[in-house]
Amino acid sequence: MEVTYRFDLEKIDWRELKTALAVDGFGNGRTPEQLERSFRNSHSTCIAQVGQRIVCTARILSDGICNAYLIDVWTLSEFRDRGIARRMVDSLLEKLQGQHVYLQCEDDAVEFYKKLGFGEQPHGLSLIVGKWLADG
Ligand SMILES: CC(C)(COP(=O)(O)OP(=O)(O)OC[C@H]1O[C@@H](n2cnc3c(N)ncnc32)[C@H](O)[C@@H]1OP(=O)(O)O)[C@@H](O)C(=O)NCCC(=O)NCCS
Repeated sequence: MEVTYRFDLEKIDWRELKTALAVDGFGNGRTPEQLERSFRNSHSTCIAQVGQRIVCTARILSDGICNAYLIDVWTLSEFRDRGIARRMVDSLLEKLQGQHVYLQCEDDAVEFYKKLGFGEQPHGLSLIVGKWLADG
């Protein structure tokens, strides 16, 4: 199985990606257009494909100086445990030398991130301003 790791967003079928995420239980309500905008507005992105099929995503928000946020890390269920997410996250982290990278995840992904070198933070606080995905 050949996996292609892409750092561009050319010819991505956002509708298909939205469907794949939703079917795999990792959709967060974004429309295909919102999904595309969130990736395009990111500091960096990585998308893994097997043939034309998207099997893994990850993206980074960053100020380019000291603080970054890792988000949308997802591997299609049937492609998990093959090192795909590790390779994608490592590739994105390489471009963030000297920066403090944060993330938020469910309990069952904590060990995955620890294997990639992340440590737990004493507190994680968050706030949704107004209604979720208000900018439709
Ligand atoms: C978490 C997730 C991205 C891992 O993707 P993956 O492609 O299977 O991960 P990898 O194969 O690169 O795993 C890297 C290492 O972490 C381990 N690992 C992967 N998922 C793990 C988990 N949930 N718990 C513990 N270890 C895990 C792997 O066994 C591997 O270990 P190794 O290097 O010692 O062999 C994937 O399970 C997923 O998409 N989950 C649903 C969405 C999610 O929770 N995303 C993260 C929160 S934002």
